[in-house]
Order: sequence, then structure tokens, then C-alpha cells
Amino acid sequence: MTAGAANGERQALSGRDFISTADWSVGEIGVALDVAHELKRAFASGAPHRLLVDKTLFMIFLDLSTRTRNAFEAGMTQLGGHAHFVDANTSQIAHGESSHDMGIILSSYGHGIAIRHDKVPGEGNSYIRAVAASASAPVINLQCDEDHPTQQMADLMTIEEVFGTRDLSGMKVCVSWAYAPSYAKPMSVPQGLALLLPRFGAEVVIARPPEYSLMAHVMERARKLAGQGGGRITEVDDMDEGFKGAEVVYPKSWGAEPLFSREEEALALNARYKDWICDERRMSLAGSDALYMHCLPADRGFEVTDEVIDGAHSVVFRQAANRLHTGKALMALTMGGFAAPGAAADG
Ligand code: CP
Repeated sequence: MTAGAANGERQALSGRDFISTADWSVGEIGVALDVAHELKRAFASGAPHRLLVDKTLFMIFLDLSTRTRNAFEAGMTQLGGHAHFVDANTSQIAHGESSHDMGIILSSYGHGIAIRHDKVPGEGNSYIRAVAASASAPVINLQCDEDHPTQQMADLMTIEEVFGTRDLSGMKVCVSWAYAPSYAKPMSVPQGLALLLPRFGAEVVIARPPEYSLMAHVMERARKLAGQGGGRITEVDDMDEGFKGAEVVYPKSWGAEPLFSREEEALALNARYKDWICDERRMSLAGSDALYMHCLPADRGFEVTDEVIDGAHSVVFRQAANRLHTGKALMALTMGGFAAPGAAADG
């Protein structure tokens, strides 16, 4: 491909929303990954890459964050712009200001809107899409009830770096439920992995206790996309079975969909499955070079032992680091960092 064609593909993503990886073609996701690799090299070498000078991203958080907030804030600084943190609890969102008005108003102040709204099944994705419908600036999903697409971009980038290929044909990836006593965690990460990895050929096995089924309409979309991409999604109710022969294991906790508003019951149900932990015995069931992945934060000693998460198979800190590079790529592409001079992102 010529440099001109590559730049044309980048320019074409200016103004696009990034609410689910499923909304972007495999080719467009590839463009974003290519940019992420370039920006990672630039960051490492200290080469300037101020693609978003004087631009502002508004980041609305309706939940806590370490990696996502800091990766996007630092990333915007490195791109020459500013990421403005909007705490939902100290803005008029807490008084019920509408998604429609938020989209219009924040678009009039800056160049992009990013939102985390992940705690209530049925709400976050609808809210983000409602903001996007009114916004003239592009909208990025920083995690909703259905998907965590900026995390999954970092996950795919990490797999690509380790295996040296973006073609995941025939690769068994076990996305397993794991026990956690802390809180009912969103279903967005396992769903986001199911939405993305089979489009690159992966054989995703979801291992989970019977009560922890994922959202039916999301999994229906994931299965349809898997069929188009050459991958596959299967489900088992046995963690050992899921791990057997896997080249990648991604065990993490998530809540049972009907219990998100009933925390005590949710945690009591979790506690019935305390033996769903990723330990060295389970890692030995996977391939000898299998990767251990987790989006973090992990409940150490519950979801995973220290030996595994700090061990030779673990790539969790590389995943976390890649949140910066993939986040910067998505901001630069959608917010006009590659746009032709004089062109404006138009959402
Ligand atoms: N993985 C992830 O999204 O981390 P934070 O919740 O800390 O942003």
C-alpha cells in the first residue's frame, strides 16, 4: 500500500465514533492498530507526535478508573491536546441533565467526547449512543455495559506483539469467569473479547458457571461477526475444560446479569464458585507458552494467584501499557489527527 493510500484510510476515520469494535470494519481496526504501533515506537524513542495540538477531549466518568483515565489523559497531553475530566457526580449529569444536551454542549467546547458508563446492564451503551446521536464531535466508549472496546484494542495489540501476527486463525483463547469477592464487575470485557477476537480468526471459548451467561443480544452480534471473520465462539461450564490447550487465557470475574442491582446476592452467588481461580495447576492445562491476560484491576488471591499474575506467562502490564498507545491511536484517528489540512472532524 502506498503512503497516500494509508493516509487516506486514516483520514477517513476522522469524525467517526468508536463505541464498539463491532462498529468498525476489520480493516479499520487494523488501521488503528498500525497507528498504535507507530505511536508506541514514537513514545519509546521520544519522537514528537503532536497530532492533536490545542484539541480537547471531554471524558465523562460514571465509574472509577485507573488505567483508562490516566492512559487517555496522558495520551492527550502527548498528542499536544488536553483531556478534560468530567466527574458525573459533580456535574449536572447527577441532576439528570440529558444525554442529548450533553452531546451538543460538549461538542461546542471541544473536539471529542469519551464516556465510561458501565455499572448498570441496559444503560451504558444506550447512553453513549444517545450522546453520540446529538454530538457533532466523535464519541469514544471508555467502557459500557456491553463492551470495553479501548481495552480490547490493547488486548489485541498485545496478542499481536507476542505472537507476531494479527491473524489469530485457529488460536484458542479461553475467556473464563473467575471468582472475586469485591463487587459485581461489568460483563463488558468478556463480551468485548467475544466481539473482537473471532473476527481475526480466534476460537474463543467462554468458560463460566451456569448463572453467568453474557448478554444475549451482544453474544448474538458476536456470533454473527465470528462467522464472518473465520473464528468461533463456544461455551463450557468448566474452567479446566476451557483452559485445556488454550494459547491465551483471560480469566476474570463478572456479575450475573439479574443481580447487578442486588450486590449482596451477587456476592453470595460468586462465593459458590471460589474454586474458579487461575492458579499454576490450571495454567499447566493450557499450552506450555500460553499467555495469561487480565484487563486489571485483578482480585489477587481470588481471581488469580500472585504466582500466575507475576509469573512468566503473564502479560498484564504490557496490556496496561498498550492502553496508552491504542488510546492515542483512537483519539488521533477520530479527532482529526490525520485529517487533511483545513478539514474539520464532523462527527
Ligand atoms: N482495565 C481498565 O479499564 O482499568 P480501569 O478500570 O482502571 O480504567
